[in-house]
Amino acid sequence: MELRIGSPATGDNYYPRPALIGKLLRALERDNVAFLGPRRTGKTSCLEQIRAQPGPFVPVLLNLEKHDTVEAWLSAMLAELRRVLDQPKTWKAELADKTKSLLAGIQKIDLPGVGGIEMASSPGKAQWRKPAEEFLALLACSDVPLLFLLDEFPTFLKLVAKHRSRDEVEAVLNWFRAARNELKEKRVRFLVTGSIGLKGVVRNLGLAPSINEFDAHEIPPLSDEEALGLLATLAKDNAIPLDASGRKKILRLLGANWPILLQLFISEIQEGEFKKPPTPAQLEAIYRDRLVAGSRNQYCDGMFDRLKDAFTEAERRLAREILKSVCRSPDGLGREEFDQLHQKLEPVLSQTASGMEELDHVLDTLKHDGYLLQESIGPRRTRFGSNILRDFWLRKTA
Ligand SMILES: Nc1ncnc2c1ncn2[C@@H]1O[C@H](COP(=O)(O)OP(=O)(O)OP(=O)(O)O)[C@@H](O)[C@H]1O
Ligand SMILES: [Mg+2]
Repeated sequence: MELRIGSPATGDNYYPRPALIGKLLRALERDNVAFLGPRRTGKTSCLEQIRAQPGPFVPVLLNLEKHDTVEAWLSAMLAELRRVLDQPKTWKAELADKTKSLLAGIQKIDLPGVGGIEMASSPGKAQWRKPAEEFLALLACSDVPLLFLLDEFPTFLKLVAKHRSRDEVEAVLNWFRAARNELKEKRVRFLVTGSIGLKGVVRNLGLAPSINEFDAHEIPPLSDEEALGLLATLAKDNAIPLDASGRKKILRLLGANWPILLQLFISEIQEGEFKKPPTPAQLEAIYRDRLVAGSRNQYCDGMFDRLKDAFTEAERRLAREILKSVCRSPDGLGREEFDQLHQKLEPVLSQTASGMEELDHVLDTLKHDGYLLQESIGPRRTRFGSNILRDFWLRKTA
């Protein structure tokens, strides 16, 4: 297993998460799934894993982050589906005929952009409705258990709104919802995910949340046992000295078992060129000086900079104040304290319904995106999602 920081972990570099993948596949047998989770937590890696071991499904994986029209999305779905069905691999006997006839049907769909015809010929005009209906009809009668894994779906919607219009996003979401309903009793499933939240995008466009009903599943961090296993495997395979007490110490220092944080820690030990397993004091120094304060590590900087993409100017000011306060509160903050903070920043707005909605939205997004974590029991106070982000924020806002 090689150290992998940044790009999705695939093949031997993916630390197996059989419980999570099994849960997602079972959920997909029942329903369509929104796979949610903070940035950089391994969502795309899990999609790649499902593609490699798709259970009963024929998987079609698409990254939609560059597509800015519905035609481009449909075109990519058709092209990838064609590629998957056309693979020389032998389908199970009962699927062979079905995949063949589905493939033949797809070849007949005339979508600008597929088969070399350029589709930018009449920009602004929705050319996608007819081929979309044909595609849906084909899926509805094909009986092939297709699983569309749609990565960066929220970014795609944002781009469609920018490139075309909000109404176009509403139209495609309506079509997509109707399609999911129609295919519900069939064996076709969709999983959507992305590095920005679907809920926030839909809200910012002023669309009703119900336009997007999926069965929501959050990516959990690794269990302690899995995290210790990942650390041991990474250290061993890369000849980095690290003993059992060092591995436990790392989990305590980070305070959140996201694979990327474990990978970052191991890579910083590697940089230190240790001949013997680092001592607790040395691990503390690596944490403090390299992970929290170091510039090589783009993770914290990325999370810091990203606030401006996730929020409007006013929301961002509120988010900054919230994060600045939370990182200084050892016990976290409760709702009343958030209200007071909001009131200080926006004395008038905070008293109105839309002001309250703004606070809810900012808190929701900060939780969804992995900055904050709300306790699920007791007084349900909200604190930082990991020690590393908390300590980084303390430093940045000192
Ligand atoms: N199962 C895993 N095994 C090993 N490393 C992993 C695993 N899952 C995630 N990672 C680590 O996390 C990093 C981010 O993974 P990935 O790109 O899949 O996350 P993501 O949630 O899709 O991120 P984004 O929100 O940016 O789209 C990888 O580069 C790798 O370091
Ligand atoms: Mg991703």
